[in-house]
Amino acid sequence: MDKIIVEGGNRLTGEVEISGAKNAILPVLAATLLTRGVNKITNAPKVRDVNTMVRLLADLGARVERHDDGEIDLDTTNINNHAAPYELVSTMRASCLVLGPLLARLGRAKVSLPGGCAIGARPIDLHMKGLEAMGATLKLEKGYIDASVDQLRGTQFYFDTVTVTGTANLMMAAVLADGETVLENVAKEPEVVFLADLLNQAGAKIEGQGTDIMTIQGVTSLQALECKILPDRIEAGTYMIAGAMTQGDVWVKNCEPKHVEALTLKLISSGVSVETHETSIRVFCDRRPHGVNIKTRPHPGFPTDFQAQFMALMTLAEGQSIITEDVFENRFMHVAELNRMGANIELEGRSAIVSGVARLSGAPLMATDLRASASLVLAALSAEGESVISRVYHIDRGYEEIEKKLSQLGAKIRRVK
Ligand code: UD1
Repeated sequence: MDKIIVEGGNRLTGEVEISGAKNAILPVLAATLLTRGVNKITNAPKVRDVNTMVRLLADLGARVERHDDGEIDLDTTNINNHAAPYELVSTMRASCLVLGPLLARLGRAKVSLPGGCAIGARPIDLHMKGLEAMGATLKLEKGYIDASVDQLRGTQFYFDTVTVTGTANLMMAAVLADGETVLENVAKEPEVVFLADLLNQAGAKIEGQGTDIMTIQGVTSLQALECKILPDRIEAGTYMIAGAMTQGDVWVKNCEPKHVEALTLKLISSGVSVETHETSIRVFCDRRPHGVNIKTRPHPGFPTDFQAQFMALMTLAEGQSIITEDVFENRFMHVAELNRMGANIELEGRSAIVSGVARLSGAPLMATDLRASASLVLAALSAEGESVISRVYHIDRGYEEIEKKLSQLGAKIRRVK
């Protein structure tokens, strides 16, 4: 298994190009199941989760061509399988995004239940209840959801909890349903809006994306999808924090500054300098930041996907910071590892109380989930001495060429097989 070795202590300076968004392309790939034709997706990030979703679609009958320049062409004329197996779903929860599209397309879907994961129980009960409200019958058998329907029909559904993939799943199902669907308390993440806009370009009738209520008039067919995936806001924010944490000067290029506004404002209030331009952001800093508090929330709140990386920054702040995780119930796996590097973090329920220290020291570290792994890389970059991070397949799920991009910024980082 690969390991990443980091020699800490270098200031990061220079430019880093942001890749396409993992959380945008996964639902877009699933949405190709709603079409019959050749879908063209460009700016696809080269990350493991995309490989997993492409494999799943190929299993379902799509003909896939991947190009070196980040284009993926998927011919979905012949979708002839309705099963998403445990082997794939267990490595990536977002595989459950095929549930709605398969039901809409074939009237049948058999998808493994994802089960728990490192950051919490993460059920998909709301995806299931919503599809039932649209007329589907769902049975649970041997760890699989077996769903069937003659024709999905429009409904009114309220999400008790804001869920990103739940919103995407029901929106995709509703696009080809009979009649009008009203989805209330939906996710407003940029990737959800991107998906809705793309489906509309292909002939769907969705209104209200980006607000709490979406209304979808069902149509009978969609044209093939064609899009350039928007930049990955979580990758952009991770490099912004890397610049701040190493007291460096980093230009994050090819990003959408509006999508990282909550992070930008928190960095500024901790004393970090952030300059925002049309499609790039400069982050620079020449001293320790001050402790600031954050609470994670659905968009436009502070994203849970930045919580671990921001905590890494706060370990080196002057003063105290209280970090409250309100989206997932158990997303603090990085705390023990950061403490092993000399951080001072105490957990109290859903909050972490971080008392800043002057320095961290390198250590052997274990990656536990995607964003926790990113926080360990950030901590290792600013620590004294060497860190060896194992189980880096977690990082490869969502960060394209992380060691290459960080090396270009002056980090001493390498991967060993
Ligand atoms: C998506 C993102 C992930 C991000 C998360 C929250 C993708 C591919 N992944 O994950 O990077 O961390 O949003 O911003 O876009 N919940 C239920 N029942 C459900 C569904 C969700 O109780 O049926 C709960 C979850 O347990 C969690 C909360 O809702 O506590 C939010 O989860 P959700 O938005 O669904 O996360 P994902 O869509 O899986």
